[in-house]
Amino acid sequence: LRTISFDPETASVELVDQTLLPAEFRVLKIKTIDDLCEAIASLRVRGAPALGAAGGFGVALATLLSGETDIGKFKPDIARDAEKVASTRPTAVNLRWGVERVLTAMDTAGNVEEARQLALHEAQEIADDDVRRCRAIGENGASLLRDGDTVLTHCNAGRMACVDWGTALGVVRSAVESGKRIKVISCETRPLNQGSRITCWEMGDDGIPVTLISDSMSGMVMRRGMVDCVVVGADRITGDAVFNKIGTYSHAVLAKHHDIPFYVAAPLSTFDFELLEKDIIIEERDADELRKCGEKLLAPADVRVYNPAFDATPMELVTAVITEAGVHRVPLDMDELARLA
Ligand code: MRU
Repeated sequence: LRTISFDPETASVELVDQTLLPAEFRVLKIKTIDDLCEAIASLRVRGAPALGAAGGFGVALATLLSGETDIGKFKPDIARDAEKVASTRPTAVNLRWGVERVLTAMDTAGNVEEARQLALHEAQEIADDDVRRCRAIGENGASLLRDGDTVLTHCNAGRMACVDWGTALGVVRSAVESGKRIKVISCETRPLNQGSRITCWEMGDDGIPVTLISDSMSGMVMRRGMVDCVVVGADRITGDAVFNKIGTYSHAVLAKHHDIPFYVAAPLSTFDFELLEKDIIIEERDADELRKCGEKLLAPADVRVYNPAFDATPMELVTAVITEAGVHRVPLDMDELARLA
């Protein structure tokens, strides 16, 4: 089963509600743009490559929902819905990339029916392509892992963050598939616990040994020699930095200090060839994500909170970026990567 897919018969985006994991595995059928935006904002669907697919399917859904029959009025209608979806979360570049890829595919349409078919086809292609690319990332990255290695990871860059297989966890999966015995240390990833809830669940489901630690323990386990390398995903990669879940930067600094390789696994669609770290908006999320656990207060109800969802890891802390095109050692040749993208 894919994390996200589209059913043209019922005009719905089908996605696993990740906020319920690991307690419940439920597939939602999303039938409106507002519900899709809600699902993205509340992280029912999350992770950069899955957001790329959500963006593409969102535009496809908009084309089916629109009652407009005049192509001249239809396209601006769709563009409005597309912008609504693309601006739901600002940091992962894949969301807007997926939306724009489908809008561009519709450009040549001479009538509404043709536009719908082009949109549907392109959105489906984004999803299918993601599975192929994750497989390639996995195979490229697996060559970096040795039999018996322990990989520390942060957040969830697994099949739930993609359409299938995963990026960072795809590397682990491919290494295991090739016969290597790999263990995973998963950081819990406060405050929304994608590491404990989703990565630990995914690894358990695959029978890959996983140990959960709190985010603040990564330095300790590195110092004790319990980590052979760090592999994480990315939400956006600029020429000078990797944006990923808050806490990633701390693991990178600690890995550098302990001389442990720090790998980033991501498709080429996660690269931003135009902007630099200083230009990127980091999403800030609701204060109650830190103040509360469910309904229980973990802090004074009115305490001031700073809750950025992502951080930027300077490129000099990264050993290599693993993409579907290969293993790219840092310093990256961004011109060459732009040609490959
Ligand atoms: O806020 P999230 O859960 O969408 O953040 C996800 C991450 O930071 C992932 O590590 C990243 O998107 C890579 S997913 C292959």
